[in-house]
Amino acid sequence: MGFFMKKVNLNYLKAGMVTADAIKAKNGQTIMEKGVTLDRQSILRLSFYNITDVYVEGEPEKETDAGQKHNFTPSYSQKVKSSQQFQTFQFDHSVALNFIKNNFENYVFHNQPLDIYGLLKQTTVLFDSCKTSLDLFDMLNNMRSYDDTTYAHSLNVALICRRLGKWLKVDAASLDTLTLCGLLHDIGKLRIPEEILNKPGSYTDEEFDLVKKHTQYGYDLLRDLPLDPHIKASALLHHERCDGSGYPTGVSEDIDTYALVVAIADVYDAMTAARPHRPPLCPFQVISLFEKDGLQKYNPKFILTFLKHIAQTYQNNRIILSDGRSATIVMLNQNSLSKPIIRFDDGECLDLYTTSDLHIQSVL
Ligand SMILES: [Fe+2]
Repeated sequence: MGFFMKKVNLNYLKAGMVTADAIKAKNGQTIMEKGVTLDRQSILRLSFYNITDVYVEGEPEKETDAGQKHNFTPSYSQKVKSSQQFQTFQFDHSVALNFIKNNFENYVFHNQPLDIYGLLKQTTVLFDSCKTSLDLFDMLNNMRSYDDTTYAHSLNVALICRRLGKWLKVDAASLDTLTLCGLLHDIGKLRIPEEILNKPGSYTDEEFDLVKKHTQYGYDLLRDLPLDPHIKASALLHHERCDGSGYPTGVSEDIDTYALVVAIADVYDAMTAARPHRPPLCPFQVISLFEKDGLQKYNPKFILTFLKHIAQTYQNNRIILSDGRSATIVMLNQNSLSKPIIRFDDGECLDLYTTSDLHIQSVL
């Protein structure tokens, strides 16, 4: 016999594994031939067909090595992380991050010029490497555990702003401005002592008052530069809220529209970041948090466009419910985006809107 084969659970499939047998759907139809090298797309496709186990080439692992005894469901996330596209994105992301870090620090601490063109270019190249929204959010959601600095946050917010700008159908020039609004919104944080920014646990009132000053510091850092006024306004106003609950001044009207877009991207990135007490939230948990946090804090058109597209990005995906069952999203509820109609593997459908004790735990 020339090779070994082993049975691998769908959740443990990795890009680069080779099928050792043809994969058939329940009706007998062949979904994938023997000898196919798996990639992220094909693994995703198998999950759509409800395939649970696949025979791939390789030595069978000892039971204990397989990691299947853990009581959490290893995820889609593991599959994304092992994909070639993710590894490329991660590399490009770290190159862009380095560029931003050096450029910001040289500007803020050494009075060297801010390379606006270079900053924009780094961000748009990274953005363009993701062909679909799913690509972008998959990549971002899986970068979380790697970097949690002001620079990573700034880059992520810039990418999300650009995505939201596209969903809002703004023109190309505004899209670039919006991207820079995201990239530079927190530059004032470089003036806040790191030990306060990175402090574990919650801030004292004094500390929070100091952290809040990053908005004014950011504005001051950008004020005299030949930049679009929206970029300066975004640094100053991205924590203001439409219901007046924000800072630095608590205004509720006439908040710069670009700052209102940045606000959404900023909060989304914070919600999806890994925290010591919890893993990164799944998109539907984020939507539900936004709904709970109060949609009236945000520009109605912007927030609805954002959440609708995030939900649509994951339509037809496999999900895991809070009670551990898995299902497929079949239809979104436009009035409650975090509670779509889902279908279990036995064909039974459930409207999450009518079942208050269940929610989507993760996207598979
Ligand atoms: Fe901020």
